[in-house]
Amino acid sequence: MPSAKSPAKNAYLPGPTDRRIDALLTLLAENPTNVISGASIAKEIGVKRQTVWRWIETLRESGVNVKGHPRSGYHIERVPDVLAPQLLARHLRGTPFSKRILHFFQTESTNDVAMRLGENGEPHGTVVVAERQTAGRGRAGHSWVSEKSVGIYVTILVRPPISPMQSPALTLVAGLAARDAIADETGLSPDIRWPNDVMLNGKKVCGILTEMQAELDRIHFAAVGIGINVNQSRMPVELSGIATALRMETGRTHSRLELLLKLLRHLDRYYNQFITEGASPIVQRFSEVSSYGEGKRVRITNGKASFVGVTAGLESSGILRVQRDDGRIESIISGTVSEAQ
Ligand code: BTN
Repeated sequence: MPSAKSPAKNAYLPGPTDRRIDALLTLLAENPTNVISGASIAKEIGVKRQTVWRWIETLRESGVNVKGHPRSGYHIERVPDVLAPQLLARHLRGTPFSKRILHFFQTESTNDVAMRLGENGEPHGTVVVAERQTAGRGRAGHSWVSEKSVGIYVTILVRPPISPMQSPALTLVAGLAARDAIADETGLSPDIRWPNDVMLNGKKVCGILTEMQAELDRIHFAAVGIGINVNQSRMPVELSGIATALRMETGRTHSRLELLLKLLRHLDRYYNQFITEGASPIVQRFSEVSSYGEGKRVRITNGKASFVGVTAGLESSGILRVQRDDGRIESIISGTVSEAQ
């Protein structure tokens, strides 16, 4: 369904959620326990009663517990955990993330959407969020399991006034924001595996894929894609040894809406700090909260090549230094880091 506000511009997009479904959700969320008749909802959001009924079914399919039926009216018992743009935007005023939030009940990959939006000239701060991804992508060609409504799958389009040489710190910015959001939400103390995997009890709970379009001296835009495992009760067998979810670590479910708000607020704070003060406070904060900055024995894998060494601090740009067993220091620009024995 095309966006109601600017259909021409979004015509090529595969179905961001209609703004009027968003309005319906907000109306129900603002009146929990009140029964609102189908007729008043239809009038309020400007659609036919049959459309209200159809959209209520869409919301139910997405896990929103809407009570009632077309004759008496509808109500929900508590604010639903759908990442609805209106609900998000009202808590993000004063940040660049409140102006343009695109929501999908389903899309292939929020990073793909954000990259297309970037090419289309969409503004800094545009947020693309999905309840489910059918082709979620991870780093190094991996996929990202994106089951419906249990995780956060979000990509933020940014237009930082920096060169590609400065981009390692931008990667750290996203990891720090995710780490602090998860710490606030759980009361736990997450680790960050360089550059930006957030870990709880040695297992990955959040991954970040940053993609860019740039020239030699200037980044045009970056799509910062963040995936957080939130309310999964178990991991697929092949991931159970290396991945976890907030719920699996805390034993309770978490509001994805609250967590996403925390994430975007921390991202706003760290991003502004990076743009105004440079990489140094970001690198320093990373060193404070990550056990991977210094003195950790790691394996670095890049394609088919790999070696083992001990982390030896970060360069001022955010690049990781690793000392090989023969004493040579390597600067790690890309590659996968894992803990080694
Ligand atoms: C990783 O391999 O650690 C990065 C995972 C990134 C997953 C997120 S989910 C939202 C965004 N859309 C994608 O297709 N990938 C990123």
